[in-house]
Amino acid sequence: MGPPPPRTDGLPMNLEALLAARLAPALDGADPAVRRSPHADYQSGAALPLARTLGRAPRDIAADLVARADLGGLATAEVSGPGFVNLTVADELIAAVLTELAGDARLGVPRVEHPQTVIVDYSGPNAAKELTVGHLRSTVIGDAAARILEWLGHDVVRANHLGDWGTSFGMLIEYLLEHPGGTYLDARTLFASSPEFQERSRLRVVKMQAGDEETLDLWRKLVAGTKDQLLTAYQRLGVTLTGGDFAGESSYHDQLAPVVAELEAKGLLTESDGALCAWPAGFVSREGGPLPLIVRKSDGGFGYAATDLAALRHRTLSVGATRLLYVVGSPQRTHFEMVFAVARAAGWLPESVSAEHVEFGSVLGADGKMFRSRSGDAVPLAALLDEAVTRAAVLNPDPAVAAAVGIGAVKYADLGADRRSGYVFDWDRMLALTGNTGPYLQYAYARISSILDKGGAFTAGVTLGEPAERALALELLAFEPVVTGVAQSLEFHRLAAYLYGLAALFNTFHQQCPVLRAAPGVRESRLTLCLVAARTLRRGLDLLGIASPARL
Ligand code: ARG
Repeated sequence: MGPPPPRTDGLPMNLEALLAARLAPALDGADPAVRRSPHADYQSGAALPLARTLGRAPRDIAADLVARADLGGLATAEVSGPGFVNLTVADELIAAVLTELAGDARLGVPRVEHPQTVIVDYSGPNAAKELTVGHLRSTVIGDAAARILEWLGHDVVRANHLGDWGTSFGMLIEYLLEHPGGTYLDARTLFASSPEFQERSRLRVVKMQAGDEETLDLWRKLVAGTKDQLLTAYQRLGVTLTGGDFAGESSYHDQLAPVVAELEAKGLLTESDGALCAWPAGFVSREGGPLPLIVRKSDGGFGYAATDLAALRHRTLSVGATRLLYVVGSPQRTHFEMVFAVARAAGWLPESVSAEHVEFGSVLGADGKMFRSRSGDAVPLAALLDEAVTRAAVLNPDPAVAAAVGIGAVKYADLGADRRSGYVFDWDRMLALTGNTGPYLQYAYARISSILDKGGAFTAGVTLGEPAERALALELLAFEPVVTGVAQSLEFHRLAAYLYGLAALFNTFHQQCPVLRAAPGVRESRLTLCLVAARTLRRGLDLLGIASPARL
């Protein structure tokens, strides 16, 4: 057993916060801006923004900071580059904090002090259609958001805004009344070619929304069937949406008329070609004129925007949500900006509530166009997942493992890239065992698990010798700021990149530092590193909704 670790009681378990707290007194209230850096353990960028306000050279300010800061032996500081302060953390501190992390089930990530009620609106497929790859991103990204916010202690309400009340339903019902047993695709083909059928479909929506029993009978059966199918898909995907989370467009039906009446009473609506519209400031149509948000169509029906206004009003005023997330593709950006603007004007979205369109780009084929099947149709999700599992079975034929790896690969490919840009769906790349992929991370986790299995029981404690041990340890201490940052930005690729970097550091450590054959003392220390690395990878993958089998 080495020397007793320095006392860290009451100190935050992440070094970023610890070092920032040490620098703060020398900064007169300015942000210490301490971050991990490729050039040092940590780097403070505090001097750069100060240079302008103080009218001094950034390197002079940085030198002052180095001279004045009392780092209490936790780190050494030196000026670097244009005015950064490089911080090198004492090995004993890294070792002490890591030992503490080994005993903390939450890996140094505290639950938030002030939980918010967060509504995560995600998945929201159009219920008349089969679930296609088009709704994969919303489902996967939204679930990661729900998982991470819930883990941090927020009250998360999942809302599956099923498209169960619009045109495509009118179309399908109208079709099925004449062709029992027909399919959505048949209905759409007829819809595309027949203006007469289009008109009947439109009238069918009006009938449905007016409560016509024959229509509603068929509607109820169709919706129930879709919900069953969806729940099966969610379960297979490891998505946490349940039957209780369905809040389809139809569920806001009774609120539509009152919502429109309230907007009208507040003077926010004017008529245009028979439709009732809101005209939030700053939105311009293609022709350069004001852009309307249609809340009641000329045929008296309510559309997508009215439903979203009713849903928003319900979420803030009745549910009491303080953060609203809409995980929906980028093409709907203007829609949400307009809905938020009208809701603010109506008083349904107070300043204290944030409404965020968590937008994302499309899944693309190898040709850079929308990802489609060979026949040119949208790819059904079930077929896609079947193929993922079949391909993963080449790596490991065990059905449970193949499912975890195949589906994990698809989800990771979706979450691993910046959500705002589209990504190319590429089987070979997502299933590769090297690079920033799901399988690479899952294999790293399984490798560590097997070491821990063989290691047996041990007392956690860390002493650092080799550079690879130090590099791994330091990265393990950076989990908290990554998770906290991602919960705010919902940039899941940052968590993915962190886990990838961590797995790579683990692999280097594993190549350079024997664990099971190490001398007593060193062995326990390395097992402790393995333990915290395994837990961090597992938790990180779980926050992304990706399984981590112990054996692969
Ligand atoms: N059903 C919509 C679509 O497929 C997505 C629903 C998103 N949520 C919302 N509150 N509008 O485009």
